[in-house]
Amino acid sequence: MPANPNPLLVSPTAQSDVLSVRAKAMIFADPLSQQLLQQIEQFAPSDVTVLITGDTGTGKELVARHLHAESGRKGAFVAVNCGALSHSLAEAELFGHQAGAFTGASETRAGWFEVANNGTLFLDELGDLPLPLQVKLLRVIQEREVVRVGARTPIPLNVRVVAATNIDLPAAIEAGRFRRDLYYRLNVVTLKVPPLADRPGDILPLAQHFLHIYADRLGIREAVMAPETRAALVSYPWPGNIRELENVVHAGLLTARDGVIRPENLRFATSPRLSYGTSGPTLNDVEPYEALGQVIGGLLKNQEADLHERIESLLVHQAFESSGRNQVQAARLLGVSRNTVRTLLKRYKLLTDTPD
Ligand SMILES: Nc1ncnc2c1ncn2[C@@H]1O[C@H](COP(=O)(O)OP(=O)(O)OP(=O)(O)O)[C@@H](O)[C@H]1O
Ligand SMILES: [Mg+2]
Repeated sequence: MPANPNPLLVSPTAQSDVLSVRAKAMIFADPLSQQLLQQIEQFAPSDVTVLITGDTGTGKELVARHLHAESGRKGAFVAVNCGALSHSLAEAELFGHQAGAFTGASETRAGWFEVANNGTLFLDELGDLPLPLQVKLLRVIQEREVVRVGARTPIPLNVRVVAATNIDLPAAIEAGRFRRDLYYRLNVVTLKVPPLADRPGDILPLAQHFLHIYADRLGIREAVMAPETRAALVSYPWPGNIRELENVVHAGLLTARDGVIRPENLRFATSPRLSYGTSGPTLNDVEPYEALGQVIGGLLKNQEADLHERIESLLVHQAFESSGRNQVQAARLLGVSRNTVRTLLKRYKLLTDTPD
């Protein structure tokens, strides 16, 4: 990986990164994924701005990297996580700054836009970009030039912008959190990355793919999945999508005996294990659900008011707290979109001391 060219500007939490695109195996086995692959390859060679939407863990970044890899662009693929940009330095991080432009700016530095010149700038979690920066971003995209903070002379650029989001941007526009003009400018082409549950043909090829990767890393010479394991993987709804599948296979391999992943080695993170018998889906982990069922039965018998709301708010509250008040993590735990979590947190007034 090349050295970070802009070390002063990256806060310790920022995940901005400059990465060369690794030749990485990709799985697009399901017909729906093949359609997506065709779209990627169709739009890759043009300079058109692309917006990639999809739930968490569906492969948005991988799609962005593939767009760049197939674009023929000679410059770097630069990934910037808009949610991790520190507010005070975000403008300088993106657009660069002159020496002395602000306290601590001892040298003149290029921003991520310049680093991505002749390449691709991937703006991840675009929905988290602060509003004032949205205005500046729109101008840079339209004018195809940046002005470093503290400078006057514009620097012409040839950067292809690809953005990703797992939030509902039209809803964010309605809520006043995202600019409509920037949305229209970025949304020239939208690639929708479907949830894993909608492309079941990918599940086993992906599992096999991760099995190879992790067996290799763990030094396991031969790793296999038992037939019941395959059946369990195919019937699980995968709320955490491909990232969850990757984690399940990795963890399964860590606990497997003799390199054989059996159903008891599968630890699904977010929801009960389902199996499909002749009478439809049934819960495998019976005990905790029996206990929960008894509690709910008691509450129902007592005709508790607002029972549904109370249970839902408790569930959302627990998920939010146990993920360190992180909305993305809480969404992952609950198996819903971040937007849904945000709506629920607001509905149950659980966001009081958390900035939006
Ligand atoms: N089609 C694919 N073939 C192989 N691996 C994939 C594929 N899609 C995604 N992955 C892998 O799944 C993991 C999650 O993908 P990625 O980080 O691109 O998802 P994301 O949509 O950006 O997630 P998030 O919203 O959480 O940022 C990565 O390890 C990635 O390499
Ligand atoms: Mg991502």
